[in-house]
Amino acid sequence: MDILVVGGGGREHAIIRKLRESPQAGTIYAAPGNGGIAADAVCVDIKATDLKGMVAFAKEKKVDFVVVAPDDPLVLGMVDALAEAGIPAFGPTKAAAAIEGSKVFSKNLMKKYHIPTAAYETFDDPDKAIAYLDAQNRYPTVIKADGLALGKGVVIPENREDAVRAIHSMMEEGQFGESGRRVVIEEFLQGIEVSVLSFTDGKIVVPMVASMDHKRAHDHDEGLNTGGMGTIAPHPLFTPEVEARCMKEIFLPTIEAMKKEGREFRGCLYFGLMLCADGPKVIEYNCRFGDPETQVVLPLLDGDLLDIMRATAEGRLSDVAVGRKPGAAACVIIASGGYPFSYQKGYPIHGLDANGQAPGVTVYHAGTQCRDGQYLNNGGRVLGVTAVGETLRQALDTAYCAVKAIGFQDSFYRTDIGAKVL
Ligand code: AMP
Ligand code: GLY
Repeated sequence: MDILVVGGGGREHAIIRKLRESPQAGTIYAAPGNGGIAADAVCVDIKATDLKGMVAFAKEKKVDFVVVAPDDPLVLGMVDALAEAGIPAFGPTKAAAAIEGSKVFSKNLMKKYHIPTAAYETFDDPDKAIAYLDAQNRYPTVIKADGLALGKGVVIPENREDAVRAIHSMMEEGQFGESGRRVVIEEFLQGIEVSVLSFTDGKIVVPMVASMDHKRAHDHDEGLNTGGMGTIAPHPLFTPEVEARCMKEIFLPTIEAMKKEGREFRGCLYFGLMLCADGPKVIEYNCRFGDPETQVVLPLLDGDLLDIMRATAEGRLSDVAVGRKPGAAACVIIASGGYPFSYQKGYPIHGLDANGQAPGVTVYHAGTQCRDGQYLNNGGRVLGVTAVGETLRQALDTAYCAVKAIGFQDSFYRTDIGAKVL
């Protein structure tokens, strides 16, 4: 089967690597892919959000199956557009992708169906938002842009002044464009964060191994929120008992709620959870695989990813085996100096072989370009250096040993991935 994977980051590289293990996989195309992905797939220069271009390419190449990995094409309706052209695809429809595309929608869904989450109110008038902040007068508080904002639409102000500034910049100055015209203000939850990526065909939910992301740019959770600076799996605090509780109180109620709303979800549903003193709560849903969670979750997936994805898309997920391998995985992101603010591109990366890899680890490319055989940094997050080991400690040691030998001008990485739970 010829497959087209939409997207061009570390997540897509990890998906492609896993798809390649399937005996049924034929040619794999990546659109747009990146310099490192080009070692594993045929990269085509189509923007991930170009619905028409993507459908036309899939038709021209008679692609058998499309995997739509990033949030924006899903929220724009790429899976619907492919379906109209008769091309099967993995990923939710536009209606179902609203679970990530609109925080107002997802919060209201949770309220309506009694799914545990932080208490909240939604606002489209900045004066009312500020009046609410003053009535609550509780900091830190959490302010979220309604729509997609590249993972940067959440601020956690510690005081009124910062909160009011965030309201103004999102709702009046258009910091996130239309995405921030409406906001959610919610209770700050204390606890341990867990990311659970699951397959669901709208009928059953099959969680993969739980993982822990590290969102802040620098060690000890300092600096700004990023897309994620490193991950580990399995999450040591997500015990089978907690998982069983989440299945009953969160996972199944969510897919049933989506079905009742006429938005049956088929694809990868990502549950961003907070394990609080009074039980697990939803921080956010994503309508897709997480990045860089995927880089540790898929190496521990025991199963044929192509089979699983097709079964998910066809509504027969219960027919396929979705297992978990023993051991642990760790992924350390190497980023460009300055990220998540502005950064320079085009620096040569040292420590990689001709295929963009390094000994003992798998290097997933998030933002690279390859020119005349030389890999160059070409994004904020550049590489995800991933190792698998019998224990988390072994996986981390192997990953960090490789990370130390890879770099480029001004590159940086967090030195404390997984440290909190070792
Ligand atoms: P989100 O994009 O909704 O995942 O938010 C980004 C990050 O902000 C999360 O991973 C959490 O670390 C943090 N966050 C979001 N909502 C809350 C909340 N209600 N309480 C505490 N932290 C939160
Ligand atoms: N790493 C968080 C996300 O993919 O949204």
